[in-house]
Amino acid sequence: MTPAKNQFLALFSHITRRSRGGVGKVATTTPWFTKPIASAPMNGWSGPKLVAAVANHGGVPIFPIGYFTDPAAILKELQNILPLLSDNEQQDGIDNSHGDNGSEEEATKAEFLPYAVGFITFWLDRQGPDLLLKILEGQGDLPHSTPSGTASATTGARKALRPPAAVWFSFGDYRPYLKLVRQYGAAGTRVIVQVQTVQEAIDAQQDGVDVIVLQGTESGGHGAQRVRPLLSFIPEVVDALQEREKTKGLKVPAILAAGGISVNAQWRAAQALGASGVVIGTGFMPTFESPGPQHAKERILNAGDGGNSTVRTRIFDELREFGWPEGYDGRVVRNLVTDREEEDLKTRGVFEPKGADAFKILREDRTGTKEDWKLAVKNQDLDFIPLWAGTGVGLLKKQMSAAEWIDQLLGESEKGN
Ligand SMILES: Cc1cc2nc3c(=O)[nH]c(=O)nc-3n(C[C@H](O)[C@H](O)[C@H](O)COP(=O)(O)O)c2cc1C
Repeated sequence: MTPAKNQFLALFSHITRRSRGGVGKVATTTPWFTKPIASAPMNGWSGPKLVAAVANHGGVPIFPIGYFTDPAAILKELQNILPLLSDNEQQDGIDNSHGDNGSEEEATKAEFLPYAVGFITFWLDRQGPDLLLKILEGQGDLPHSTPSGTASATTGARKALRPPAAVWFSFGDYRPYLKLVRQYGAAGTRVIVQVQTVQEAIDAQQDGVDVIVLQGTESGGHGAQRVRPLLSFIPEVVDALQEREKTKGLKVPAILAAGGISVNAQWRAAQALGASGVVIGTGFMPTFESPGPQHAKERILNAGDGGNSTVRTRIFDELREFGWPEGYDGRVVRNLVTDREEEDLKTRGVFEPKGADAFKILREDRTGTKEDWKLAVKNQDLDFIPLWAGTGVGLLKKQMSAAEWIDQLLGESEKGN
């Protein structure tokens, strides 16, 4: 798979890694991203270690910004990725950033970091764009890339950071932020948008988004309630976008498929349907590098029968009180809470209980309260708290490293690369 031949990878050919090559050898520069597989921005399940492992192996990791309240904590997490990257240049970058010896020329070169950052768009609406702007600034004092007022507010963190390869937006209206990225981001910062309908894909093409992620109903974690299976979603979008290329001259963005993809045959099917790559969430959850708890990883590996052992629900958003907008739910591994939710719907006609009524479900006699929820969270009790996962759990059997998992998915294990 050469980056030049793959539409998705070609978008990132300017993001390179340099290796010194050792004694008597010349340094070489090669594209960072060589495998059209992105690791999803999974809150609590992806962090610096997984991001670095995916990037080091040539995949495109998306760091989860999640439900952030403290921008400084996110910037610190991003800094923790840097020393884990297997690139001499990145290491040099860190050392230089702490001293005064960086030349003017170096400082103005937009060298991108080999990962994307993934925002939950409606949450960004609530928190304001400051963190996005700080991340876009990346390397700091570039006058042309610094919106007024944010330069002085930026902490020392920016010195060690450079712009991310891309910014990802899911769940909400990305258009104001697309404008911000185009206006304040370094030229070459790509925009990835996850969509759930054909119309949203058409709109994203019209808006000039670089990469569209088609999220199928198979997906783990949140998605739209109106979402559909990938098998029909991908080809319908491909047709619609190609038609608009012909009739309106609109460029077709790179298309990635997301949802339930765990084995090589699915990866090949996604490509056959017209995707130039895939986004994987659940498949990376049991990897050694994922920060998720081991008992939860084991539950994923033991789930089996993925269409039956997982279910879409809104109940956990009620219990967590994150205020997810109407129209979204999330796929989880079934547990006591989802079983009781189904039972209540069947026997008492209770549909999507809200507020204090939602907490009642936490006790068998339906007298649960917020205190029960807090206890379940404290104990990480998977019978009660959500284990977000896609239908692909049925195909995941063995714990392995992220690199091994990527190789297995791409059918490259035998080649040992
Ligand atoms: C544990 C978990 C957390 C997720 N968190 C996010 C998130 O914070 N933002 C986001 O855009 N998507 C999130 N997703 C959804 C992914 O973007 C993606 O659509 C999904 O993982 C693909 O399906 P798969 O999990 O079956 O591979 C999450 C998925 C999982 C499994």
